[in-house]
Amino acid sequence: MARLKVGVLVSGRGSNLQALLDSAADPAFPAEIALVLSNVPGAFALERATKAGVATAMVDNKAYDGRAPFEEAVHETLTAHGVEFVCLAGFMRLLTDGFVNRWHDRLINIHPSLLPSFKGAHAHRDALAAGVRLSGCTVHYVRPAMDSGPILVQAAVPVLGNDDESALGARVLEQEHRIYPLALRLIAEGRARVENEQVIIEGPGATGALVNPAP
Ligand code: GRF
Repeated sequence: MARLKVGVLVSGRGSNLQALLDSAADPAFPAEIALVLSNVPGAFALERATKAGVATAMVDNKAYDGRAPFEEAVHETLTAHGVEFVCLAGFMRLLTDGFVNRWHDRLINIHPSLLPSFKGAHAHRDALAAGVRLSGCTVHYVRPAMDSGPILVQAAVPVLGNDDESALGARVLEQEHRIYPLALRLIAEGRARVENEQVIIEGPGATGALVNPAP
């Protein structure tokens, strides 16, 4: 069966991109990374793509007069590479409704919290400030409102007594690298679909529970 052609939008270090590249390196994985597009010149993610033999593109938002023409260039670049599905992986530009609606149900994001808690750029700081005992990460379909949309996969981790943002962030990031490829696999295998703004997933769910502190 043909593999789903995926474009990954990045702005920075690209560790989630790396997880996707590593999974897609297996020919049995149902998706291939057809293009990595950065809006930031010199983003380390671009090096990761090149090393993996994947095509890259630079669309520098600073070179455009406003979001709409920038996004038009992004859209054109994606379609020129035959991209069918888009993953945001540390892409640090908010997307307009126009772009999001054009890629409706073909656009997903990863966020480092258990959404709908702690949206925005300071998820770990906000989780620590709230004193939650569990945090985690979420892969979700993108809707126009920031960090919202039907939830595909979540992973939970404990928040520990001496955590700071970087310790919690590292624990969550490890799980991001597990669930982003999992979410993409579910989609590419046709096992996930959106109905009434909720994701239906075919096959078994998880068992067990994560309790913190340990009972
Ligand atoms: C990740 O924490 C992701 O959840 C958030 O931005 C960060 C990107 O990290 N959206 P990386 O570039 O994938 O390493």
